[in-house]
Amino acid sequence: MTLWHDVADAAAVLSREMLEAEAPGHAFLLLSVSGEIFAVDAVCPHHQAWLSMGHLDGATIACPRHQGRFHIATGRQLGGPACPPLPTYPVRVVAGRVLVGVGL
Ligand code: FES
Repeated sequence: MTLWHDVADAAAVLSREMLEAEAPGHAFLLLSVSGEIFAVDAVCPHHQAWLSMGHLDGATIACPRHQGRFHIATGRQLGGPACPPLPTYPVRVVAGRVLVGVGL
């Protein structure tokens, strides 16, 4: 079962590359790439650096602390120190709002 959280205005996300958003118990980073919105954990799975301080290059987010690189759609690690994948979340846009799904 998926619980959908209303976390942001879609236009606000699409007007910039990255936007942090919260839901109870979760901190997300919303990413806008070519008009599509993605949601990942806001912190790096290596040593919990805030990824919003990193760099988005196409579909890859680079962590600011040790330059770990992750694919934003799958969370797969593409480089940097060994660590678990970056958690990713499904996104829906409904009536101009961004909904992020979290599995229960
Ligand atoms: S904290 Fe992100 S790669 Fe180390």
